[in-house]
Amino acid sequence: MHVPSAIRWHNECLELLDQRALPVEVVYLPIDSIEAAVTAIRTLAVRGAPAIGIAAAYALATSMRQVSQARFAGSLDAHGSRLKAARPTAVNLAWAVERLQARAAREPSYAALKAEAEAIHAEDRAICRAIGEAGRALIKPGTRVLTHCNAGALAVSELGTATAPLYLSHALGIPFKVYADETRPLLQGARLTAWELSQAGIDVTLLCDNAAASLMAAGEIDLVLVGTDRVTNNGDVINKIGTLNLAVLAWHFKVPFYVACPSSTFDPNTARGKDVTIEHRDANEVVNTRTAQVPAYNPAFDVTPAGLVTGLVTDRGLIEAPGDSDLPRYFGLI
Ligand code: MRU
Repeated sequence: MHVPSAIRWHNECLELLDQRALPVEVVYLPIDSIEAAVTAIRTLAVRGAPAIGIAAAYALATSMRQVSQARFAGSLDAHGSRLKAARPTAVNLAWAVERLQARAAREPSYAALKAEAEAIHAEDRAICRAIGEAGRALIKPGTRVLTHCNAGALAVSELGTATAPLYLSHALGIPFKVYADETRPLLQGARLTAWELSQAGIDVTLLCDNAAASLMAAGEIDLVLVGTDRVTNNGDVINKIGTLNLAVLAWHFKVPFYVACPSSTFDPNTARGKDVTIEHRDANEVVNTRTAQVPAYNPAFDVTPAGLVTGLVTDRGLIEAPGDSDLPRYFGLI
């Protein structure tokens, strides 16, 4: 891989690549407390649905290293709640915390929590590879792919989710082209996706988010491929703000719209997208010294109805028309 890992776990110490500084600087932040982990997640030093789940799992385990048996259950509960509240939308955060809590209910020890966090991280690598295999057939010689935000190595581990089919196809020598939306206001596409794909030698072109329509109208896009923070029981997709714009455009211009979804991002407990809490972020991410000083509307995510999604690329294979599928059964949950 040509980009640094978002998450480093060495000698039982957690370090997070500070993604706020990329691509200008590569700096790692030591995370030695729940406060540090919550701040890193909230301020997007670590971001991307699977990565915040993995980071939270390691941070939770680390925070329990010195806790006595008498205080174990109470502290785990308190630390877990603080982590889960750091960002509300991606299901992976709560999923990872709850997975560690379930393990601790059986084995209340630091060693068990550490092992569970390491297992989540290892599984994530395998899941990304499986998504890559499932999505490889979508990338044909000459395919022009449009992506949004960053669902790459920096958001997950190694191959990323939406980028996994791209990395595997590139390794096989298949020529294709990627267009990366800059992804306002925090520019995950411009700073992260365009950077990581170019580091890997993939042909990538950056565009303003509002240029996507003209690109599709010109017949220059064959496939939209994005990641997701949560897929609800009915197949609705919650992802970075602007994803819905692309889905509507793709429907209008008859471009296939696929979403890479690891099984850890499927949420069978939430019926539909409108039931998900959408994070609204600070106005100062939009209003700055070059803009009028007015209030800003700044939701971090939007909901794409299942009916606009051509398919989910998952670690269990390709699911066409997810809105018509029995997703819990597909993900092996019933
Ligand atoms: O606010 P961010 O940068 O955490 O948003 C990330 C996204 O929307 C990604 O597309 C999503 O988490 C999938 S990452 C594999």
